[in-house]
Amino acid sequence: MTTPQQPNQAEGESRIRPATPADTPAILRLAVDTRMFLPHETGALQEEFGGFHAGQRGAGHSLVVWTQTPDAVVSGVAYLGPNTLSERAWDLWMIAVAPDRQRQGIGGDLLRFTESRVTAGGGHLLIIETSSDARFLPTHAFYIRHGYAEVGRIPGFYGDEESKVIFSKRLSAVVVGLS
Ligand SMILES: CC(C)(COP(=O)(O)OP(=O)(O)OC[C@H]1O[C@@H](n2cnc3c(N)ncnc32)[C@H](O)[C@@H]1OP(=O)(O)O)[C@@H](O)C(=O)NCCC(=O)NCCS
Repeated sequence: MTTPQQPNQAEGESRIRPATPADTPAILRLAVDTRMFLPHETGALQEEFGGFHAGQRGAGHSLVVWTQTPDAVVSGVAYLGPNTLSERAWDLWMIAVAPDRQRQGIGGDLLRFTESRVTAGGGHLLIIETSSDARFLPTHAFYIRHGYAEVGRIPGFYGDEESKVIFSKRLSAVVVGLS
């Protein structure tokens, strides 16, 4: 039995849909509310999503949102695509869940969806970059829980005391069903 707060896997993934330009303000709010970006830093993100919606990003790029019902507020987002320097590696550039909806399985839905997209697109490796800052330690726990391993660290990347931390996971070809 599932509750509205803890959707099962199939229900959860069915709540993921492609983002539209109208979702951009909500996605930018998520980026700020989850402390991934400061409010004055969202310009580059907005520009990136503008380029995506204008069809200026490569094949395989996906920007998706998680909503409880089709018309409900955006509770989560993921942005991914193939790494152009690699034949097999894909990047998950952004994953975020609204603070009041975290630890309810939404991030897991988005990550499973991402992995499905990667394998459907012929990818075998998913790479996720994050920060060593203490506020992202729960995020590290999330990735490790989903089978990701820390494969690299670049000290001083984001600040004197803040490293870039790189997680990756090798993906098998079979991941259950999304259209
Ligand atoms: C990372 C994130 C996307 C996970 O989404 P989520 O919906 O909370 O994740 P799920 O509910 O599917 O999984 C929860 C699991 O992740 C880990 N986790 C997530 N948040 C955690 C927290 N605050 N403290 C400890 N563990 C946490 C735990 O393993 C947890 O399992 P548990 O609840 O059974 O202990 C979300 O917490 C988030 O948006 N964080 C801020 C933004 C961010 O860091 N994005 C990634 C930048 S690279």
